[in-house]
Amino acid sequence: MKTQVGIVGAGPAGLTLAVLLQGAGIDCVVLENRSREYVEKRVRAGLLEHNTVELLHAIGVADRLNREGLEHHGIYLRRQGQTLHVPMTELTGRRITIYGQQEVVKDLIAAFLERGGRLRFEVSDVRVEAVNSSNPRISYTEGRQAQELECDVIAGCDGFHGVCRAAIPDEIRTEYEFVYPFSWLGILAEAEPATDELIYSWHEHGFSLYSMRSSQVSRLYIQVGNDERLEEWPDERIWEELQLRHASEGWRVNEGPIFERGVTPMRSFVAEPLRYGRLFLAGDAAHIVPPTGAKGLNLAVNDVRLLAAGLVQWYGTGSSERLDDYSDTALRRVWRAQDFSNYMTQLLHKLDGGEFQQQLQLSRLEYLSRSRAAACSLAENYVGLPAQPDF
Ligand code: APR
Ligand code: PHB
Repeated sequence: MKTQVGIVGAGPAGLTLAVLLQGAGIDCVVLENRSREYVEKRVRAGLLEHNTVELLHAIGVADRLNREGLEHHGIYLRRQGQTLHVPMTELTGRRITIYGQQEVVKDLIAAFLERGGRLRFEVSDVRVEAVNSSNPRISYTEGRQAQELECDVIAGCDGFHGVCRAAIPDEIRTEYEFVYPFSWLGILAEAEPATDELIYSWHEHGFSLYSMRSSQVSRLYIQVGNDERLEEWPDERIWEELQLRHASEGWRVNEGPIFERGVTPMRSFVAEPLRYGRLFLAGDAAHIVPPTGAKGLNLAVNDVRLLAAGLVQWYGTGSSERLDDYSDTALRRVWRAQDFSNYMTQLLHKLDGGEFQQQLQLSRLEYLSRSRAAACSLAENYVGLPAQPDF
């Protein structure tokens, strides 16, 4: 088989790239090692930046997002029973939208296939080869048959545990990593959210987040230790801890049947550069952020926006200028998001530094409540800076 762009991975990065290229008349094939059902059900974060929503509109996959997405204009920061509202839209003119990542994935898959896209699920033994030549290939197994896909370019969109990153030789690749000494236990519950906007709560026991998916479904997270297992968290303990960490006078978290639960470790990671020869990395394949700033999906979408623009220029004019700039340009936003995600994490989680760290956190939270400049800085990072103007 032959194509112009071979895309490894059908997560938000690979699928958004596929729909962007399809719209520009560039042929691509997406190879995914999981089943369609699996990727459509995989529960992840659910907060879309202004830029992400605009891009999904622009590529014509926002019908359901328009109907079901929840537009938010701020967040709450809570500590010791006191709640501060950060009015994002008032401070930045931009908004955020709550819409589950797996819903974005479903919409992208449906649009790509409906428009005649080639997407292979459940392929195995994926290997990228000759990426530093002008004839890169992806070899894989489909059914029991060995296959080869000849490409002009390969997009490594295969997430943190994928195979593409390792195709950049060690002597060229630099990896930066920080693993946090805590995780998030996340649940989905059939319960009407008792809040109109997200609540990020600081507490002596640790962080908790009140998010949602619809008027009937709440999404809640609590900070837990890295060695804790789900079995140690029966429903009663989860609700008790959520009530305690989110406590505010005369108000309670709405409880209901929990139908999804999982533990997510927290990591900051960047691999540089994002390009080696004809291989381009995008999304989690190249970088991971802790979920506190909800940047993972948004960064993935930004990467492929830049990559698609580079490929359109290259195929359209022969100029590789944008492709040559791709790594540096994408990494600037990645590092901004790394700093912000780390800041939000350090601001709100129970840290190893004991009471001294706690006092610093409380001072920072108070500063946010008293300084418009501080709130503005948080807000513009949270909603995401506008896309790079030259792309
Ligand atoms: N071959 C083919 N597909 C692979 C391989 C492989 N060897 N390894 C992994 N994949 C697939 C995964 O099954 C997954 O569907 O690549 C896809 C990568 O998708 P994601 O992990 O979702 O990563 P990405 O598309 O970069 O999305 C960014 O935002 O909210 C965050 O981490 C969250 O997924 C999220 C991310
Ligand atoms: C979510 O709704 O899953 C979510 C929202 C905001 C975050 C992280 C996760 O910061």
